[in-house]
Amino acid sequence: MALHPLVNIGIRAARRAGNVIIRSLNRLESLEVSAKGRNDFVTDVDRNAEQEIIDTIRRAYPDHGILAEESGASGGGEFTWIIDPLDGTTNFLHGFPQFCVSIAVQHRGRLEHAVIYDPMRQELFTASRGQGAQLDDRRIRVSKCKGLEGALIGTGFPYRANTRWLDAYLGMFKAVALATAGLRRPGSAALDLAWVAAGRTDGFFELGLSPWDTAAGALLITEAGGRVGTLTGADYELGGDILAGTPKTYTALVELLAPHVPDDLRPAR
Ligand code: IPD
Ligand code: CA
Ligand code: CA
Repeated sequence: MALHPLVNIGIRAARRAGNVIIRSLNRLESLEVSAKGRNDFVTDVDRNAEQEIIDTIRRAYPDHGILAEESGASGGGEFTWIIDPLDGTTNFLHGFPQFCVSIAVQHRGRLEHAVIYDPMRQELFTASRGQGAQLDDRRIRVSKCKGLEGALIGTGFPYRANTRWLDAYLGMFKAVALATAGLRRPGSAALDLAWVAAGRTDGFFELGLSPWDTAAGALLITEAGGRVGTLTGADYELGGDILAGTPKTYTALVELLAPHVPDDLRPAR
């Protein structure tokens, strides 16, 4: 099936950013690193990769809006590109080979297209609303996992400002560790979500994320037959807390985590 033109531009942008990232790997020592905040590093690689993406989009669609991690929001109109030029910067800085480029396109506030590119494995995940999800040119589906037993669950540990949820999180961690085959913390939320879509993990949860961490991954999962929402099972919103999985693993996780969800993350009554 032919890819949508917006997806083709997204792929071109993601591959260019991936090249910037890979070229920088062998000069990790000399990278200029600045801290945005405690435990939050941004490098000239993040910025250069983001510029490549924005230039590629602007050449094709000069009037589209952009929401990008390093440079913020610009432009307007019906279309918005949501961009994380390098998801997993901490991994990247250590040469720990788990990071990606994440690009999503919203039309009138609804997620329509997703591109996630893993430049180490050269794996390309794509999805368009109603058209399914692909890894390279193969169709992907979430796993057949029927709940918690035997499930492999991805997660992200709270850090930075999110450490206020650490105790609540440790309660969730313990509950999941006791009920499933195990937890993994690969360190790139966008790629973690793509791996749920590809059936490599059966579910995922994390607190305190940003729109660019989850937008593309969320569409990939729903197009791969999975479910995505908040920790309490409410509809997915850009950013914030996220829970995803195969339909049955998702429902089971909502129930398992319910007693541990911090008050400020419960829907107002
Ligand atoms: C981070 C990664 C990480 C997640 C953090 C994110 P960044 O993104 O996705 O897995 O735990 O919450 O901020 O800063 O490397 O783009
Ligand atoms: Ca990110
Ligand atoms: Ca980033």
